[in-house]
Formats: sequence, structure tokens, C-alpha cells
Amino acid sequence: MKELKIQPIKNGTVIDHITAGNAVKVLHILGIPTSSSSTVSVAMNVNSKYGKKDIVKVENRELDPYEVDKIALIAPKATINIIRDYEVAEKHRVKLPEEVIGIVRCSNPTCVSNSREPVKSRFIVLKKDPIQIKCYYCEREPEDIAERII
Ligand SMILES: Nc1ncnc2c1ncn2[C@@H]1O[C@H](COP(=O)(O)OP(=O)(O)OP(=O)(O)O)[C@@H](O)[C@H]1O
Ligand SMILES: [Mg+2]
Ligand SMILES: [Zn+2]
Repeated sequence: MKELKIQPIKNGTVIDHITAGNAVKVLHILGIPTSSSSTVSVAMNVNSKYGKKDIVKVENRELDPYEVDKIALIAPKATINIIRDYEVAEKHRVKLPEEVIGIVRCSNPTCVSNSREPVKSRFIVLKKDPIQIKCYYCEREPEDIAERII
């Protein structure tokens, strides 16, 4: 029998293969607990084929593409499993676009994307795993991407 570390859910989303240690950042991206009352289970430092990983299971909720892009920034190997009636109905690997627009704040205070102009932040993805991005406007490469997610 297949081992389930936490209780099965009937409907919802399992975010699997999260970079070990980043589950809490995923919860933050999903607005848990601040703006969501969904039931959530978290497993951290689970052994898997590829070393340790974290897992987040959210009941009765499917993610929007914006949330999935944010998760890709901090967990490039994550899979999004949509559970319907206890079964994995859909499985998607997160995928970062070539450019990340409007989801990370530039670390340069004088960058045009941080000015009063209505200019959305825009980063070019240089490397996906580990993530490396460069501001399209000022070329700065932020280190603490997880802390800069809007
Ligand atoms: N009903 C459920 N409730 C809670 N978690 C579930 C449920 N069904 C599957 N999962 C979890 O969702 C994830 C994906 O399930 P799946 O059966 O596709 O596993 P897998 O074959 O190991 O997938 P992968 O190759 O992506 O690791 C696993 O972490 C599994 O434990
Ligand atoms: Mg697996
Ligand atoms: Zn910039």
C-alpha cells in the first residue's frame, strides 16, 4: 500500500516536491492563514527519491496561475496536483515564464519600477534552479527573492 504521510483529502490541491525548507514561504504566497480559512496540512523534510522535500496540502482550493508562478520562484521542482474525489485528477509541474512581471519587487530603491510611475516590475529569468533573475530596467539581480515577492 502506498504510504500517505498525512490524511487524504477529498478535494483540493497538493503542492509536492517543494524545495525542503520552503513550505512556509508557499503558505505565505497562498495567503495562509491571513486571508484563507482552508484546512491545510504541511509535511517538512520528507524523504523522497531526490532527497528531502516539503509538501503542502490545501483542502477545497485550486490555485490560480499567478500563485503558481510565485511558487515556481521559490520551489522550481514543485508539482501541483489537483485532487478530486480523493484521486489526483491533474498534475502540473510549475514552470517559470521567460520574464517575471509584477510579482517581485526590485531591490534597487531608485529603479523606475519602484518610482511613482505606474511601471510594473519586470525581471528576466537567467536561471531556473536555483533561481536567478535580473531586473529588466536596472539590471539588478536580487538575492532574497522569496522576501521580495509582492
Ligand atoms: N487524496 C489525497 N489526499 C492527500 N494527498 C494526496 C491524495 N492523493 C495523492 N496525494 C499526494 O499527492 C502527491 C501526488 O500523488 P501521486 O499519486 O501522483 O504520487 P506520485 O506518483 O509519487 O507523483 P510524483 O511522480 O509527482 O511524485 C503525493 O504527495 C501524494 O501523497
Ligand atoms: Mg512521489
Ligand atoms: Zn530594477
